[in-house]
Amino acid sequence: MCGIVGYTGDKNCIPILMNGLTSLAYRGYDSAGVAVWEGSDLTLRKAKGKIENLKNLLETSPISGLSGIGHTRWATHGEPSDVNAHPHTDSHKTLAIVHNGIIENYLHIKSMLVKNGCVFVSETDTEVVAQLLGYYYDGDPLETLKKTVPMLEGSFALAILFADEPETIYCTCKDSPMVVGHGKNESIIASDIPAILEYTRDVYFVQDRQIAVLKKNGLAFYDEFGATIEKPVTHIDWDVEAAKKGNYEHFMMKEICEEPDAFRKTFDQYVNKDFTLKSERFPWDKARAKSLKRLTIVSCGTAFHAGMLGKKFIEHMAKLRVDVDIASEYRYGDTLIENGEAFMVISQSGETADTIAALRRAKELGCDTMAVCNVTGSTISREAGHVLYTYAGPEIAVAATKSYLTQIILLYLCALDLAQKRGEMSQVQITDRLKEMSKVPAAMQKVLDNKEQIQYFASRSFAVKHVFFIGRGLDYALAMEAALKLKEISYIHSEAYAAGELKHGTIALIEEGSLVVALATQPDLQAKVASNMEEVRVRGAHVLAVTNGPWDGAAGHSHEQWQIDQMDATLAPLCAIVPMQLLAYYLAVQKGCTVDQPRNLAKSVTVE
Ligand code: F6R
Repeated sequence: MCGIVGYTGDKNCIPILMNGLTSLAYRGYDSAGVAVWEGSDLTLRKAKGKIENLKNLLETSPISGLSGIGHTRWATHGEPSDVNAHPHTDSHKTLAIVHNGIIENYLHIKSMLVKNGCVFVSETDTEVVAQLLGYYYDGDPLETLKKTVPMLEGSFALAILFADEPETIYCTCKDSPMVVGHGKNESIIASDIPAILEYTRDVYFVQDRQIAVLKKNGLAFYDEFGATIEKPVTHIDWDVEAAKKGNYEHFMMKEICEEPDAFRKTFDQYVNKDFTLKSERFPWDKARAKSLKRLTIVSCGTAFHAGMLGKKFIEHMAKLRVDVDIASEYRYGDTLIENGEAFMVISQSGETADTIAALRRAKELGCDTMAVCNVTGSTISREAGHVLYTYAGPEIAVAATKSYLTQIILLYLCALDLAQKRGEMSQVQITDRLKEMSKVPAAMQKVLDNKEQIQYFASRSFAVKHVFFIGRGLDYALAMEAALKLKEISYIHSEAYAAGELKHGTIALIEEGSLVVALATQPDLQAKVASNMEEVRVRGAHVLAVTNGPWDGAAGHSHEQWQIDQMDATLAPLCAIVPMQLLAYYLAVQKGCTVDQPRNLAKSVTVE
């Protein structure tokens, strides 16, 4: 949700800021801007639209300087426009500021400032912060921040350049991530790790209301009262190349192609070479696992869909009841959970506002919390009682692909661990399952090697108006993610339905030419799914069946079949997600959509 980058050092900051903004474009992309200290003045360049527009502006109207801040925006207050783009300044241009998040009490502060003569030029809550800082500024940036930051309610990450101290960048945050690093004669700040990786792998995460001060020669950190603090360094082992597009046309395709590798990396972290689980890496010992009555899983979007699949894995294998909820619902609902109960959040970014709020609520209630998370040092990974890291590496495309895969892998492994500890599965059964699981990446690779089949299908189907993904059991949970992937990047209306539920209403929507993707990877349920396929086929739908190995029964009820390698039914979703992601990708490409940056969306949703 909006990207921030800031630099101070011995190089011209403009190429560095632009490079950082380009790598953060997935966080927001309706306008962008930079502010630099040009030697005598704070100079700004801002442009509505993609970062390209800002690049063009900087070519026709160049600026340079040794320190500066930049921003790529995802509008919350005020439409996308040049004037609402960040950075913003106060009326006297004593400072320039970029901001992620939402200042909830901005109207209240604004009316106080207007009464005191401030004239606003934009509709943003960010300008309110700029004017507030300018209003209280007394020549000492740190004192000004100490005074004003406590007045701000909501979520924010702020990077500020003061004209009186132009070689220093100040920043602070609350419920919105901020990462700081120091390289040789330079310091850099960003709202996400990929923008910083080229300069250093040793980073510091600024925590709520802390203040970071960046100078060419080093970093200093203060608490909200201005007392100096020491912060632990976090080493990021992501590969710099992993955050680049390489020869792929889109990050999304690159990230889908990386899935077999992400699978192996995550698997190897939790499974020994002899196909036993590294059970010490999972929360809970035997006694605790046996005593559990329920696990609650809370997350958003794709991560919520991972939770839905996780519920089915855990209930089936470990015989433990699992309740799954959407974080934005859970946080304001009647939380019927008791002290000591097991509570899990799932989040790729570790920064999703609603998920953080749900986690904090569970902690307040005394729950035993854990997180499945992809980003070391993120808010969720710091605050959860136990963290199960996924090893997807950086995910840049807005649509989650490899992060979802690694989440469901971990949930599968969690289910096996709980099943073993609760005495529901023997060591031999676990080892057999893990051996079979280790073969899934090869099956995924086969899907990837034959992706032209999917591309060809997409080239014939991209004009379709409605797509229904249906399935039963695990396939239904998978269908939810398949439908989300398609709608978010191709803008084709798609829905997921429990195959047996269609006839209770939704079947009314099926008409000549509707596309129905029947996920039919569960042999026990195939006969039932066949009936549901027939129900839609006779009503004019074009039916595509996705099967686990060959299934003769599909032929009469579908127009097309895609097969994944035959495998244990519980493992099939781990492989069947790949053709679903590829289908969404190719349909979006056929429609000419901006695959990596779909309209209205942003990665890492740090506002409510
Ligand atoms: C969809 C997508 C989103 C995220 C959701 C949660 O492709 O990426 O639905 O899954 O915003 O994000 P995290 O996992 O970062 O908490």
